[in-house]
Amino acid sequence: MRKKKLGLEEVATSYPAPESPDESAKTGGVNLSRRKLISRVGLGATLLAIGGQAYAFVRSLVPNVLYEDPKRFKVGTLDQFAEGARFIEDKRVFIFREKNTLHCISATCTHLGCTVKMQRLNQPKRVNASGREIDEQVEFACPCHGSKYYGDGTNYSGPAPRPLDHFKLEVAPEDGQLVVDTSEIVNQDFRLTV
Ligand code: FES
Repeated sequence: MRKKKLGLEEVATSYPAPESPDESAKTGGVNLSRRKLISRVGLGATLLAIGGQAYAFVRSLVPNVLYEDPKRFKVGTLDQFAEGARFIEDKRVFIFREKNTLHCISATCTHLGCTVKMQRLNQPKRVNASGREIDEQVEFACPCHGSKYYGDGTNYSGPAPRPLDHFKLEVAPEDGQLVVDTSEIVNQDFRLTV
């Protein structure tokens, strides 16, 4: 009898006891949640993949554009330009004012494009630039390979192949600001009268 009882106990420990209805419902709930979670993760991954492909497609329609500095820009109102020279560093131009006239000379060296430096002379110097006699107050020198330019931009020493550019100047009618137009290279004699 005792032995038989032991046998029953062995049988009872060999097989798991059936789950109660409550436990079964609990387990079923867990499986359902897991299935939902997996299907949602799958859906999310699919949507992400579709979104990525759509972005790549739209991006391929937009060309890689290089935005350059505008060639025409404002540099300030006339009262900001006193007699003499002023360097607009970020635009690499010099603006000169002589009484009621203004002109603009590029600071870009015509050799390889370095920015030239302006040097003020202690006293005016008479030079023959491009066949004309001028009394210059300043000169330009390039720090890269030593090119030198007279005050009117004419190159006279070093590897620079030609004079510095002169750009057109005008006054914007809407706000009275001085406008430099680097798309228009003008003669060295160009002067804006204001
Ligand atoms: S870049 Fe000015 S001299 Fe070469």
